[in-house]
Amino acid sequence: MAETIQPLGRTAFGNAADKGNVLTETEATELLNTWVPNERLQLHMKQVAAVMKAWALEKEQLPENEAYKWWLAGLLHDADWEQYPDQHCKIIIEELEKRHVDPEVMHCIASHGPKYFGVEPENTMDKMIYVFDELSGFIHAAALIRPTKYEGMDVKSITKKLKTPSFAAQVSRDDINDALSRIPVPLEEIIQFIIEHQKDVV
Ligand SMILES: [Fe+2]
Repeated sequence: MAETIQPLGRTAFGNAADKGNVLTETEATELLNTWVPNERLQLHMKQVAAVMKAWALEKEQLPENEAYKWWLAGLLHDADWEQYPDQHCKIIIEELEKRHVDPEVMHCIASHGPKYFGVEPENTMDKMIYVFDELSGFIHAAALIRPTKYEGMDVKSITKKLKTPSFAAQVSRDDINDALSRIPVPLEEIIQFIIEHQKDVV
């Protein structure tokens, strides 16, 4: 992420009265299509959304309506990145506040880069978006250079690439390690989960 990103300057978002409010899938997809012309970035956001939702359902055993919030935060977390790189996160959060979205969604979006946005991940949803964001992009970069893409990809090949600083050098290993230090799940399990749940996202 750009070093010029301005911290958000606040850690509370939205209005408690909006708890439970979300954008519909159609509204969220429309926002994605309008705000993010870059198809590669769109795919990244869809992948993070899919992994977030799957984790909420399978690992956290959350009901569908709670898992939907995980999906929504994942889908929109980089929505303003392309058009407003210096105000990344600020613009999409303000948009979702205007649309009276559940504060948890905005807090989760704001949690995907503590050192950039100045917001510490608090709940599990916050912590997992931080974990998944960089690793999802990293694994996709690894898939792109394989002739069979995700087919037959194993966890070890990813952990090895993480130790190779020249591979996908823009992916911050420090951020990944910091994110992982906040959850009780080993890296290998996270990698396996990401491979399984983002491989078919288009
Ligand atoms: Fe991202």
